[in-house]
Amino acid sequence: MLKIAIDGPGGAGKSTLAKALASRLGIIYVDTGALYRTIGYYVRSKNVDPKSAEDVSALLPEIRVELKYENGVQAVYLNGENLGDRIRTPEMSMYASAVSAIPAVRAFLLDTQRDLARKHSVIMDGRDIGTVILPDADVKIFLTASDECRAKRRYDELKAKGIDAKYEDVLSELITRDRADSTREIAPAVAAPDAVVFDNSWMTPEESTEKLYALILEKAGNVARA
Ligand code: DC
Repeated sequence: MLKIAIDGPGGAGKSTLAKALASRLGIIYVDTGALYRTIGYYVRSKNVDPKSAEDVSALLPEIRVELKYENGVQAVYLNGENLGDRIRTPEMSMYASAVSAIPAVRAFLLDTQRDLARKHSVIMDGRDIGTVILPDADVKIFLTASDECRAKRRYDELKAKGIDAKYEDVLSELITRDRADSTREIAPAVAAPDAVVFDNSWMTPEESTEKLYALILEKAGNVARA
């Protein structure tokens, strides 16, 4: 089984590149942020403060999160319902970030992520994949890009989905969220010591995919070709 970890801040291009690499390698792409977004969505629907560890933890027994693969595309189910793009709003980004700092939430989602990597070859994107979820990953990439590049990408993504947003708001929310994600006590979003840090600010997605594909073959060629 091939295990590839891609971590990094929001808007760095993780999902675009991980999807392209997954289809090229014929393995599955796991978007772990969707799991935290789903918990955030449930917490919001119950009008609970996403920063309250006690109140959020009390909701966990009511939550069943499943990742399913439909025609190779990941779908997230909350208590049997496919949430689709409802978890992709800027508000859900902030809810996901808040609940992700709660240890009970991270523990709740740990097995779902590890089980997938036990059963399938995966390329998994998140914040703590190389450090906590798959510390023995074959390849670890920490993807970064400048704040402005990341905000522009996120802004374009939201526009394409028909979600209304201002560039300045997207930029400041991204910076606030990254600061929270990278400085939290539990599983902060930092590069693993053995990760390759890859800044793709000035690259097209195609260029980045080529370079990362070559890196994967170099680091884990025998597993990738198996
Ligand atoms: O990748 P994303 O933007 O969908 O992630 C949403 C939030 O979830 C992010 O701000 C932090 C949290 N997250 C995390 O703590 N660990 C992960 N492996 C993935 C996401």
